[in-house]
Amino acid sequence: MADWSDCLNFGLTVAKQASEVVLSAIQQQKEVKLKSSPADLVTETDERVEKLLIDAIKNRYPLHRFIGEESVAAGERVELSDAPTWIIDPIDGTVNFVHRFPFVAVSIAFAVNKQTEFGIVYSCVEDKLFHAQRGGGAFLNGEPLHASGQEDLSRCVVVTEIGAERDDLALSTMTSNIFRLMRLPVHGVRALGTAAVDMCQVATGGADAYYHIGMHCWDIAASAIIVQEAGGVVTDTDGSAFDMMSRRVIAASSSAVARGIAQVIQAFPCRRDDDDGRRCVCGATGVTGD
Ligand code: IPD
Repeated sequence: MADWSDCLNFGLTVAKQASEVVLSAIQQQKEVKLKSSPADLVTETDERVEKLLIDAIKNRYPLHRFIGEESVAAGERVELSDAPTWIIDPIDGTVNFVHRFPFVAVSIAFAVNKQTEFGIVYSCVEDKLFHAQRGGGAFLNGEPLHASGQEDLSRCVVVTEIGAERDDLALSTMTSNIFRLMRLPVHGVRALGTAAVDMCQVATGGADAYYHIGMHCWDIAASAIIVQEAGGVVTDTDGSAFDMMSRRVIAASSSAVARGIAQVIQAFPCRRDDDDGRRCVCGATGVTGD
């Protein structure tokens, strides 16, 4: 089995550098542009941090490939081949970043032969560095992480997001999903505004489940392996195998909780990330500047 530890260590180094740029920019005035919806934002810092990460990684690993949120917004295709591929969200939680709501993350996953080898999520304001390597366990600031193991959905804290899709079908589906879960009941429903950090809560055991429809592969590729390596379960929202391109995910403390959520929630249609006409879905396509 190939050892990708050198890439992981380099990824950890560049994630810390990226986090410093995010932290110094969060208090500054920002120019904000809209992408696919009024809640899908991009700033100069998202673009600068993505370039910083890709330039540094390319310089060290010239043959590696990239899927980056802002490169895709600028027109690049999403293509996960067998080649070593870095999947990057320079700022997960851009709405939070714009408003200085203190949950923003740099998310970096690395896949080979379409299998994720490691994931890094740096929650910048909290100074929490999550990472996991396939078969090596999951860690938060160097300390091992363990999912809660909870099997009873009615005792769960469930994290989710309304997401960036704002058409009627997406909104009614997402709100009715929250209603269905609350009615079960579950102990609570939470949302931090960053899919990557939301999902890492399942790895810490602080939450028992997370589900989301309409996010993208760069939002959740890194946190998916962090949850799995912490002993959690990651599936599609219909209970089938997790597919990072499908734009649907459940992360849970146990298979029983993942199944329970899959039975309760409904999905709205989303075009896959690797579909050529790739931008969403129910809303507009492409970048629409201010
Ligand atoms: C968004 C965040 C948000 C989620 C959206 C994502 P971005 O990512 O993860 O929590 O609800 O679906 O698009 O745009 O801030 O990188």
